[in-house]
Amino acid sequence: LPISAVAAVLIHEAIGDQLTCVFVDHGLMRLGEAEQVVALFREHYGIPLVHVDASETFLGGLAGLTDPEAKRKYIGKTFIEVFEEEARKIGGADFLAQGTLYPDVIESVSFTGGPSVTIKSHHNVGGLPARMNMKLVEPLRELFKDEVRVLGRELGLPQAFVGRHPFPGPGLAIRIPGEVTKERCDILRKADAVYLEEIRAAGLYDAIWQAFAVLLPVRTVGVMGDHRTYDSVCALRAVTSTDGMTADVYPFDAAFLARVATRIVNEVAGINRVTYDYTSKPPGTIEWE
Ligand code: XMP
Repeated sequence: LPISAVAAVLIHEAIGDQLTCVFVDHGLMRLGEAEQVVALFREHYGIPLVHVDASETFLGGLAGLTDPEAKRKYIGKTFIEVFEEEARKIGGADFLAQGTLYPDVIESVSFTGGPSVTIKSHHNVGGLPARMNMKLVEPLRELFKDEVRVLGRELGLPQAFVGRHPFPGPGLAIRIPGEVTKERCDILRKADAVYLEEIRAAGLYDAIWQAFAVLLPVRTVGVMGDHRTYDSVCALRAVTSTDGMTADVYPFDAAFLARVATRIVNEVAGINRVTYDYTSKPPGTIEWE
């Protein structure tokens, strides 16, 4: 959404009140993020924003889905459906603008339309259903993230938004390998918030391209006080990168990781073990799915 925010502010500068923003809230955002987005648009910019809380729809449809591509495709399809319904209500919407970036395009489909291997079907790429009769506007389609940040600053977006780590369209769904449930989203949101709080407190946020927690579908045995626990494992990921196409593991010091692990296990019910992911891209991807 920070990227969509840059696209929205840019288009608002160009066409003013002819722009209506639709925030399809799939309930898979990080802690407090939906509220921040709404506040940015409505209060900071005064750009009309329709906030659609579709979390029950999305979570309902994700029930039973475990395959990464099936999850992405379901979310992409539902995103379009929910958006379409809102656009119909608004009426007279001829264009749909999206914050698609160049790396999204390269990794999903070839920019020139030629064949290329699809690593992940990023849901914001790949066109719209023909029945929508809307023309797609993607003003950032040939830009890299660092260029969008420069543009965002130029447009006066708050640094907290412009400098924010990228967040994938399918949200926490692709950071919960296996089935996604509301309960698991809530557990992950808490762990992720602790991790990011420690990263900010250590002054490391801006040195990292992306940092996030992943909630694994594995339970391990632990001990808390004099009780046995049998809870989920959480993996921490942090990488440096310039465009998301390749990435290196961020080398935290051991004391930092130990502090985060201790806090997560103590503060987040449902997690009793924490690991750190040491895989670069390639051969790993940044997200786990
Ligand atoms: P990967 O995991 O492919 O991620 O190394 C590269 C960058 O893209 C983001 N990402 C996505 N963004 N929809 C998005 O909008 C998606 O389906 C998606 N999958 C990955 C990822 O967070 C990283 O910045």
